[in-house]
Parts: sequence; C-alpha cells; structure tokens
Amino acid sequence: MNSFQARFLRKIARFGGVLANPAHAERAILKRTPNAPFLKKLAFDVHPRPHYAYGLYFASMEAKALGLDRISAIEFGVAGGAGLKEMENYALEIQPLTGVTIQLFGFDTLTGMPPPTDHRDMPYVWASGLFRPTPKIIESFVKTPTMVIGDVRDTAPKFFAEHNPPPLGFIAFDLDYHSSTVAALSLFSGPESAILPRVFCYFDDIIGDDHELHSEFTGEMLAIKEFNDAHPMRKVAPIHGLRHKRAIPSWWNDVMFVMHAFDHSKYNTYTNPRWKAPAAKGAAKNKPAPQPSGANSPSPTHKPASSAEAKHAPTSLMG
Ligand SMILES: C[S@@+](CC[C@H](N)C(=O)[O-])C[C@H]1O[C@@H](n2cnc3c(N)ncnc32)[C@H](O)[C@@H]1O
Repeated sequence: MNSFQARFLRKIARFGGVLANPAHAERAILKRTPNAPFLKKLAFDVHPRPHYAYGLYFASMEAKALGLDRISAIEFGVAGGAGLKEMENYALEIQPLTGVTIQLFGFDTLTGMPPPTDHRDMPYVWASGLFRPTPKIIESFVKTPTMVIGDVRDTAPKFFAEHNPPPLGFIAFDLDYHSSTVAALSLFSGPESAILPRVFCYFDDIIGDDHELHSEFTGEMLAIKEFNDAHPMRKVAPIHGLRHKRAIPSWWNDVMFVMHAFDHSKYNTYTNPRWKAPAAKGAAKNKPAPQPSGANSPSPTHKPASSAEAKHAPTSLMG
C-alpha cells in the first residue's frame, strides 16, 4: 500500500469513528473554536488533560455544594511542569464558574526520580534520575502554584502544618513509585478540616504502556490497597462506571478514583443537585430540580427516557 492509499484509508476510518459516535465531530469542532466554554470542553474531552479538568471541576462543585469557597489541588510528581501548567489553566477557568478558589500545589524533588526501594517500585519501568527538569523549565512554572520541593517522604508529613492549605479536593498522583505514592497517600490520614469528604483522585500509573505491567502487587495499585487495608473509615475507590457517563469514553475514565472519608462530619450532607431535598413536613411533593441543558452537560449523548431511568442516570453537572 502506498502512502496516498494509507492516508485515504485513515480518513475513512476517522469518518467511520465520527459516524459511530458523533461526539467525536463535536470535539473536533470545539478544538477549533477559540474561547469554547469550559463546560463544553469538559463534556467532550477537549482539554489536553480531561482527567485534570474533570477532577478540579467536580471537586469545586462539591465544595460549593458544601458551602466552601476554597479548595486545594495537588499534583504529586511535577517533573517539567506540563501537568501543573494545565492544572493552573483549568483552575483559572473553573474559578469564575463556581466561585470556588483553587489553590495549587506541586510536589517534586526537582532532581528526578529518587532511587527505587525494591521491586514494589517497579525498577524495570523507572530509574533513579529520570524526569529531572531543566532549570529554565522550573522557572517557567513555579509562579502561581506553590512548589513543595524535596522527597515526598519528608515533605508530605509536614504539609498541612507548614502550608495550612484549604481542604483538599483533587489530587493527581504521578510519582510512579509505590514507596512515593504511599507517602503521598498519607495526606488522606489528615484531619477532616484538611480534606473534602470526597477527594477526587487521578492515578497516572495504573495503565501505562505495554512494558508497564501494573497489578495490585506493585506500584500505585498496591499503595491504594495498603491504604484501604489500613483505614476502615477512609477508602480510595474507582469512580464506578465513569466511562458510561462520558460522551467519549476514554482510558482516563478507568484511572479516576475518589477518596471517601466516611468519618468526615460532612460526608452525609445532602448535596445531590438532581433532586431538591424535601422541605420540612407538610411541604410540596419532592420535584426534580431543574436540569442543566444538554449544551452544558458533560454527558450530552445520554438523556434519561423515563423517570425510572432518570432515577439511575448519572448527574453529570452539579449546580
Ligand atoms: C512521571 S514524572 C511526573 C510528570 C508530570 N506529572 C507531568 O505530567 O508532566 C514523576 C515525577 O515524580 C517525582 N518523584 C518520584 N518520587 C518522588 C519522591 N519520593 N519525592 C518527590 N518527587 C518524587 C520525580 O522527581 C518525577 O519528576
């Protein structure tokens, strides 16, 4: 096959993809639309890191529903700063929409990966010194987010005392190693004033490429399991069925988790935007709360057909 034929076949395949899921066409249009609204971009995975946009937005909406006006978000493992820069961009877009200020923190040695501890750090995938940023890159990204520089095993235990951050709402875990992730997850043992009752999490290293063979016995997945085993009232769990709520299902849907703090005094506070909480005794019957228009819904392809279906349909957009 010559290159012209290959290009032609690729175009046909792309067109077939658009026919199979028209949301791909919407995404292509939005990608070329300057100043497309944030919620549209969120709905159609237009952002370069939709997982960061999703976690930051829904953490902000959780805070808003609980009457909080500030949260913090962390990227564990900053390297060259590309991820933290994206986080900053999204935070700036989300703040005016929700009224919730997002304070950003980035944790890194800034000297690259430390030496691995043992097989649980998967040294066949990562090596000491990898991802060392150049000084020029560092200067370009440390302006708005606060950098917490050093080994996370030293910096995480002091974080709340030294920085007094607003409650944690979203964390991107990208430290690669099991040992480093264990240290990062220790923040979830903190006091309830330091966390939202449900903290959105992204775990970068539980899929990976064909050389990274992730399992519950090593790496981030082991760190999550160990955290859960050690904390009866705090659990890090995947957002079950997230891909079914998305217009364009994607790999990142499978690596989004939430840390549930069942012992948080606000964990049981009613925050469901789909139905208004029934008023006190004798008030009018429970009516569905107004729903967001399809234009704003992050799940624009799915419209509940019946009230039974509506009961189980995902509430994609709060407030
Ligand atoms: C894959 S890179 C992060 C990439 C970045 N999140 C991005 O998307 O551009 C992993 C980073 O984790 C950092 N890291 C790993 N273990 C660490 C530890 N114990 N303390 C601090 N930083 C650590 C490394 O220095 C490295 O920069």
